[in-house]
Amino acid sequence: MLAGKALHQACVLMQADGGVLYLLRHEQGKTSLVRAAALPELADQPDNIPIDRPAISTIVAQTGSTLKFDDATATEATAMIDPDTDLPPGMESGAIAAFALTNHARDVVGVVTLSNDLSSDRAFAHESKDLIARFNRLAGAAVERADLLDQIGQIRFDPTERNDRLRRQVEKLAFIEDIDGVRGDDAFRLAISMLARAAEIYDEGTGNHVFRVNEYSHFLGQTLGMDANYCHQLRYSAQLHDVGKIGVAPAVLRKTTALNAEERREMDNHTVYGHRILSQSPRLAMAAEIALNHHEKWDGSGYPDGKRADEIPLAARIVQIADIYDALRSRRPYKPSLDHAEARNIILHGDDRIDVAGHFDPRVVEAFGDTHESFD
Ligand SMILES: [Fe+2]
Ligand SMILES: [Fe+2]
Repeated sequence: MLAGKALHQACVLMQADGGVLYLLRHEQGKTSLVRAAALPELADQPDNIPIDRPAISTIVAQTGSTLKFDDATATEATAMIDPDTDLPPGMESGAIAAFALTNHARDVVGVVTLSNDLSSDRAFAHESKDLIARFNRLAGAAVERADLLDQIGQIRFDPTERNDRLRRQVEKLAFIEDIDGVRGDDAFRLAISMLARAAEIYDEGTGNHVFRVNEYSHFLGQTLGMDANYCHQLRYSAQLHDVGKIGVAPAVLRKTTALNAEERREMDNHTVYGHRILSQSPRLAMAAEIALNHHEKWDGSGYPDGKRADEIPLAARIVQIADIYDALRSRRPYKPSLDHAEARNIILHGDDRIDVAGHFDPRVVEAFGDTHESFD
């Protein structure tokens, strides 16, 4: 959708009658251009054009250069133009201009080809170079980011490939500096909260669970006297605790009957998958630590490593209690929601599944006990 808007803007800026916008994709060792928008609009599904197919768009994608032909019917132009790739659907082109779409790092992320109808007899103006630079500043990074988020939302591949793709996307998202006028930190936070949301879709789809866990964890961090920077990090890192579930085989994740030993191992691996995904970005170091350790237990009976007591990072010990409190309060297909008093009793005194002394950090339990009314 954003690609369509961007293409429309490019047409307005450059006074073009139509155009096509491609995004550059590298998948399984192959590079191609994927048609993301066309004007006039195309009814068909997006086309995938191998990068080695001779056409103006593929040359631009590979070289980053701008190509313009005032007369697209001249011999030197027709030798380069691939009408199926370079021209908007159904258009007889008189003039054509193609340029690379670049992000902040000046990497080529896509290609825009614009064209003017033969009958309109207009060439692309000489000052278009400035316009292209200006267009790229406004649209390049935004289109790239929208595409990344789109890909995260559509991930349906085998676990290894899924993890690899996610890792690459998280890496890129963590370094994107501004989004549609939202700068720096806000952009970063927006990107990771969308990632947390995307991960949740694969799990129990519990809506605002991840955001509540952020808030509970932040509050517990403050109660424990941690400094402002630590609490700030906790507030955006906690939501990513179960991101690794994206890496768990869907058949295991969605299984409603009891898991066998192998399936249980796969499920428990969400901690390791999450850590692998998140440790790509230094800004997500705390989130990676939480993902890896949020199922460890104080007495060493947890997973994946059986760490005990202070070996478990404090952030993970905090998120563990925030997560369990919210899970107890939430309705799940197999259990009703509990009220605050019942959930508080379980965290302070345990039940048939939770052994408070064995599972939790006594300091965090105490902090919860002192302030439990605020959780309600
Ligand atoms: Fe988990
Ligand atoms: Fe959770």
